Amino acid sequence: MSVHLSIDYITHTFKGQPVPTLEDIELKIGSGEQIALIGRSGCGKSTLLHMLAGLLMPSQGCVRMRGRQVTKPSAKWNMMFQKPSLYPWMSVRQNASLGLDFAGQKDPERVERLLNMVGLADKADTNVQSLSGGQHQRVALARSLATSPELLLLDEPFSALDAFTRAALQDEVSTIAREQGLTLVMVTHDIEEAVAMADRVLIMAANPGRIVGEMTVNLGAPRDRASPDFSRQREALMRQFETLVGGGHEPPPKGNGSTESNSPQRQAA
Ligand SMILES: Nc1ncnc2c1ncn2[C@@H]1O[C@H](COP(=O)(O)OP(=O)(O)OP(=O)(O)O)[C@@H](O)[C@H]1O
Ligand SMILES: [Mg+2]
Repeated sequence: MSVHLSIDYITHTFKGQPVPTLEDIELKIGSGEQIALIGRSGCGKSTLLHMLAGLLMPSQGCVRMRGRQVTKPSAKWNMMFQKPSLYPWMSVRQNASLGLDFAGQKDPERVERLLNMVGLADKADTNVQSLSGGQHQRVALARSLATSPELLLLDEPFSALDAFTRAALQDEVSTIAREQGLTLVMVTHDIEEAVAMADRVLIMAANPGRIVGEMTVNLGAPRDRASPDFSRQREALMRQFETLVGGGHEPPPKGNGSTESNSPQRQAA
């Protein structure tokens, strides 16, 4: 697998902060790999994702995409946020076409195909204000995919949705990413979401934000959440998270307690 993204010893200190928010982040992500980044609130997940997107430059180190340093946003990658920013006065089709419009391109057939793929073909002319939260995320997904990005960056995009819609969208995004060979980096608080979608889960600890462990998810696709193998991986991840990040004042990420261990491939720094 060729290296798609390379994160070379990033350390970042925000202006006015006494300590670094991120320290010595070193990471290689393969082409078409699906990565989940988990960690407690405030450990620097979004900060790292913004750096991958070229929205924020690290104080030290750099991000390279296919060997080239990332210094600004590009049409080669797209970011999806927790709350999709759609234009409320526009229809589903118009919102889904926005990325292409901004790039000065037109590809109505691709937009129709994508709306079909995310199950919104029959709502193409509907104003987005009359859609549900899950449908909003589907429009945002179609819009993100319309420009044919190589890399999709997701910052807790499903956390505001109900459990059923969330599971359906996790499966959809995962399947689409696999079919299209997209590289995916997703930030989540949710252990189950990480196991449902990722090939590899990275565990971050805070103060300073750093990667303290990782786990390969040994499950095929599509993933059956009700299978014993799925439960085993979820429990192994929960256990590894608790070992590496430990208890704290905040509640741990969602998921069950654990009884089974999984050998960490990378131990706490
Ligand atoms: N622009 C900024 N200036 C100063 N500090 C910042 C800035 N942005 C983020 N921080 C701080 O950096 C730390 C990491 O923030 P970040 O948003 O990356 O965390 P996170 O892991 O995404 O948290 P959450 O899970 O709550 O979204 C926090 O302590 C935050 O207060
Ligand atoms: Mg965040």
